[in-house]
Amino acid sequence: METPAPAVASDPMERLERGSAIAAVVGLQFGDEGKGQIVDALAERYDLVVRYNGGANAGHSVHIGKAKFALHLIPSGILNPSAVNLVGHGVVIDPIGILGEIDGLRERGVAVQDNLRLSSRAHVVMGYHKTEDRLRDAAIAVARGDAGRIGTTGRGIGPCYADKAHRAMAIRMCDLVDAKVLRRRLEEIVPIKNATLTALARFVGESFEPLDVDELFDKYNGCGRRLAPFVCDSAELLRTSIAEGKRVLFEGANAAMLDVDHGTFPYVTSSQTTSAGVFSGAALAGSRPDRIMGVVKCYTSRVGGGPFPTELFDEQGEQLRSVGQEYGTTTGRPRRTGWLDLLAVRYAARLNGCTGLVCTGLSVLSGVGTLRVCEGYDVDGQRFDTMPPAIHQLQAAKPIFREMEGFDGPLGEARAYSELPSAAKAYIEQIESFVGVPVVAVCVGRRRDQVLVR
Ligand code: IMP
Repeated sequence: METPAPAVASDPMERLERGSAIAAVVGLQFGDEGKGQIVDALAERYDLVVRYNGGANAGHSVHIGKAKFALHLIPSGILNPSAVNLVGHGVVIDPIGILGEIDGLRERGVAVQDNLRLSSRAHVVMGYHKTEDRLRDAAIAVARGDAGRIGTTGRGIGPCYADKAHRAMAIRMCDLVDAKVLRRRLEEIVPIKNATLTALARFVGESFEPLDVDELFDKYNGCGRRLAPFVCDSAELLRTSIAEGKRVLFEGANAAMLDVDHGTFPYVTSSQTTSAGVFSGAALAGSRPDRIMGVVKCYTSRVGGGPFPTELFDEQGEQLRSVGQEYGTTTGRPRRTGWLDLLAVRYAARLNGCTGLVCTGLSVLSGVGTLRVCEGYDVDGQRFDTMPPAIHQLQAAKPIFREMEGFDGPLGEARAYSELPSAAKAYIEQIESFVGVPVVAVCVGRRRDQVLVR
C-alpha cells in the first residue's frame, strides 16, 4: 500500500513554523532585514513572544486597521490578545519610551494590561544614558574624527549596558518600582553622573546642566508606579510556561553583525544579538529553540558607522535605497546600501545555529541588472573565507564577487516560489548553497500573502 503523502498545511505560517514549540527569529546582517514581518506573522501562533536583547534601538511597525504604529520595546505579539509578550532581563528598558508605546496602543484600542510582562531584572535606560550616548559619540569624533563615530541610535543603549557591567551605577526594573530604593540609588548615582557628564561635555566643547535628584525621582518614580503591574520574574514565567507546554517565540532585535562579541566590533551595539541571547537574556534553560530562522535581506543595508565591504556608492546603491525604502525606523536616517555579503551571512548563520533562512527584499533587486554576491574577502592580498576579526582587516577587505544574472518585472504578485523567474530562483539557491542552510521562505513584498513558503 502506498504511504499517504504528509498533509501540507494550507496556511503558509503553519508551514513556516512547522509545529516548533520553541522558535527564534534572528537577523543575519546589520539589522532591518525584515524580521518584523516574519515575527508578526508567526506571533499569533505562539503563546509567549519574548524579547531578549537590545532596547529601543530596534523598531518595527505594526498595522492597526489602516494605521501604522511603531514599536521599539514591546514584542510583536501584542496585537494577539491571547499571547503573553515578555520583555526579558537582557533588554534595556526606557520607561518613558515603553509607557509611550503602551499609551499609543491603548489609544488605538489595544489593551496591554493582561498580555505585557517586563522582567524585574531588566536594566533601566535613564534620560542621562541618552545624554551620555550622544556625548560619547561626539567625544569619539573629537578623538578619532567623524569616521570614528559609531553613529549610535542615541537611545542610551551603550551607556545603560555599560552601567550594568559597572554594576554600582545601575538601576533595574525592581529598583524603579520601589520608591525607597529608587531614591537611594539616585542619591548615589547622580553626583557621579554629574561629574562624568560635565567632564565629557567639556571635552566636546559643550556645557552640561547638572542632574537633580528630586526632579529625576519625581519623573521616574511616576513611571515606576505605572509600570509596576507589568513587572514580573521573567525567568520563572518562561520556565513555568514551557513546563505547561506553552509555545514560545523569541524575537531577536538588531542583528548578528551588530553583536557585541561577534559583529564588526567596535561598530556594533552592546548586546548579544544572536540566538545565544535567548539563554543569557531571557533565561531559556535546558533546551534550545527547535527552529532558528535567520532573516536575510537579498542585498545589504547598514545604518551608522563601520565597515561595509560590499557598499555601493553609485546609482545602483541609490536605487536599492529608494526602491527598498531604506530609511531607519528608529532614527529616519538614510541607510547605506550594497550587494549581498554571503561571507557575512554564512558566518552569522553558523553563529546562530540557523535551521532555516528567510530571504526578504528579493523584489527590490528586480531591474537592477547583473547582480553580485560576495563570497570572500581579499585583505591586502590574503584571501579570507571566514570573517576576519580585526577592524583594520574589515576596513581593508575587498569583496570577491560572483556575478549572477539579474531579473526584471514585478515579483510581488507571485504566490508560490515556483512562479518566480528562473534567475531569481537561481539567486536564492546560490544563497542556500553558499550558506549551507535551507531557504524556507522568500518574501516578495511586505504583505502576509507575499511570504512564499517553500
Ligand atoms: P546603538 O545600538 O544605538 O548603540 O547603535 C550601535 C550601532 O548599531 C549603530 O551603528 C546603529 O545604527 C546600529 N543599530 C542598532 N540597532 C539597530 C537596528 O535595530 N537596526 C539597524 N541598526 C541598528
